[in-house]
Order: sequence, then structure tokens, then C-alpha cells
Amino acid sequence: MNKGYFGEFGGQYVPEGLLPYLNNIEQKYNELKDSDSFKSRLKSLLKEYVGRPSPLYFAKNLSKNIGCKIYLKREDLNHTGAHKINNTLGQALLAKSMNKKEIIAETGAGQHGVATATAAALLGMKCKIFMGKVDTIKQKLNVQRISLLGAEVITVERGSGILKDAVDEALGYLIENPEVFYLLGSVVGPHPYPTIVRNFQKIIGEEAKMQIIEQEGRLPDYLIACVGGGSNAMGLFYDFINEENVKLIAVEPAGKGLEPGNHAATLTLGSPGIIHGFKCYLLQDNEGNPADIHSIASGLDYPGVGPEPSMLKDSNRLILGSVTDVQAINAFNYLSRIEGIIPALETSHAIAFILEHSSMFNKDDIIIVNLSGRGDKDVETVLQSNS
Ligand SMILES: Cc1ncc(COP(=O)(O)O)c(C=O)c1O
Repeated sequence: MNKGYFGEFGGQYVPEGLLPYLNNIEQKYNELKDSDSFKSRLKSLLKEYVGRPSPLYFAKNLSKNIGCKIYLKREDLNHTGAHKINNTLGQALLAKSMNKKEIIAETGAGQHGVATATAAALLGMKCKIFMGKVDTIKQKLNVQRISLLGAEVITVERGSGILKDAVDEALGYLIENPEVFYLLGSVVGPHPYPTIVRNFQKIIGEEAKMQIIEQEGRLPDYLIACVGGGSNAMGLFYDFINEENVKLIAVEPAGKGLEPGNHAATLTLGSPGIIHGFKCYLLQDNEGNPADIHSIASGLDYPGVGPEPSMLKDSNRLILGSVTDVQAINAFNYLSRIEGIIPALETSHAIAFILEHSSMFNKDDIIIVNLSGRGDKDVETVLQSNS
């Protein structure tokens, strides 16, 4: 039980029947991760198929308006339109090497579903994507993309029909069908998933570090990322954790306001608890059950958060911020018009933090924002709310 802890967080709080599955993944991952053939296959896919390195773009207009230097790490330009593909290709290669024939995954915003279906198509594997009913409506474009890619979308009607319910259903399916490979989409879940997903995403920060030194000759003052489970944030932050002068800002969804039930600001207002097989900051009721939550961004609408960001909060390494639905929509509209970049609603939370806190930045400050995904999937939602 003491494997895979980040401080007091993480672990494997799962039915005993799932332990052999998790141990097997951990063992195969440890064998594979340093092998030359795996590293070179993943590297070439990330370059030729995904389009890495993603550019570090100096957002001149945004910078001028805010009054400091703002760079956008363009994960939205990756194949399939978000950071999720970095992780799905890595895990799908792992699944293939384990001779797995079928991949399953949960999805909220649908970006992880699309990225998983893409990897499955590429490697010739069967694929099932579990998605909450509410999210299938909000993120219809991604449901259609997943189907076109040849995967099956399983609509999850239980609970509130959001990401949490999709994970519940996917874990239930895995327990019944341990021969499949569960390709988890964020730095959450029982050990070894949080470590595996972070390791596949840390390329974001490694590239950004080299790019900013090339462009500015020094490290940035701030890194900013939105946090759902925490994978784009950990991806950007990881290589900078020991750089004490680089401040790490994690932006959570304040939804309709920070009253119970109206938000999903887990690190900000949660308390230690257990969800989906791991310990983390959790929005929970008095019995320890996940509380009702809300965010307009399906990919941030989760009552838990990864164990590693939970630990970073406790060690005071993170600056926490939260942004409402309305502020995120404003940022979505703003970035579209000022930079010609339509961000995902999840990503818009990170942009909104800058707009709402512009006075905290000085003229010479350098900020890198993780532009985790593009907003095509959210166009209908935003247009409705604009009208
Ligand atoms: C574009 C985008 N950004 C951010 C997230 C949040 O996930 P994470 O915190 O794991 O990066 C999602 C989740 O679906 C997403 O699609």
C-alpha cells in the first residue's frame, strides 16, 4: 500500500482483484521506458505524427495589453488539438507491447477520447471511450470525431453524467475485463498512472525550458496552467519544480462561484480524501463521497486532482487561482480576437487568470502559459452564451 506516494497522496486504494493488473502495468512500463526501441519509436511519433516540438509563441498583442512578456506553449497545435496525445501515444505503445488488443479510456472534454481513439487507430487496436451523458452533449464534435476514428463511445448515464461518472464506469469495466488496457487521461488514478502520465507529459516543460532560454536567455518568472486532473500543469511544471525563482500558478474552475456545488476548485477548497483508487485533495461530503461540482469546462469538472499537484500544494510550491465560467468565456472571446487563437474552455481558465490579475505582473516579467488545447469543441457553447 505504500507504493506510488507523493507525500501523503497517491497510493493504490483499489479492490485487491485490480492489484495484479496495476503491478503488471508498472513492471512493463519500467522495463519499456528506458529501452532504446521504445524511446526512438515514441520520439519519432511525437515528431512526425504529433508535430513536436510545439512552438513557444510570443503573444505580442496580449503582452502589450497586460504589460509583461507572455509566451504561449502551443499544445493546441498538436495533432488532435491538445496535450492529451503526448500521453495516449506513450500508453498505447505500452499497451501494444503488452499484447493488449483493446484499449478503454474515460473522457470529459472529449480531447482525451479523441487522442486515445487516434492512438488506437494508428496501432490497430479496438477502443471504447466512456463519456458522461452531459459531456456527450456539451462536446458533441469530439463524440463525432471519436466515432469517425473507429472507436465506440459508451454514454454513461449514472450520477451527474460527467467525467467522474465516466471514470467510475471505465474502472468498473476494467475490473470485469482485466484483459483490456485502461489508458488513463490525467495524472490521477491508482499508482502507477500518475507517474506514467506525468512522465509522458513532462516533454512540454522540457521543450519550453529550452525554447525560453533560446528566445529570452533566461528562465521565466511564472508558469501558468489550468488544472482538471493536473496533466497539462504537471507536464509544464515538472522540469521547473527545482527552479525556485519560477513561480507555478495552477488555475482551477470557480464555476458559478465558490459556494459548495457550484465549482470544481479542488486544490483551493478540497480536503484530503480518496477517489478512484488514490488519495488527493477532494471536494467531498461529510461521508467522504465526492461532492456535487460544476464547471462549464467538461475537462476541469472533476472533484479530485492528481496526487503530485496535491503534494505541491502542501509544500507551498503552487500559487492557486480560480476563475469563473463567465471569466473563462470572456478569456475565450478575448484571446480569439486579440491573438487569432481560439483556446479550449479549459485553457481559457489559464488565460483568464492573467486577465483578472494583470496587476500582479511587472513589466519585465516573463510568463509561459500552457495553451493546452484548441477551442473548436466549445464554439457552440460560447456562441450560445455570447448571444
Ligand atoms: C484542452 C484541455 N486542457 C486541460 C484539460 C484538463 O486536464 P488536465 O488537468 O489533465 O490537463 C483538458 C481535459 O480534458 C483538456 O481537454
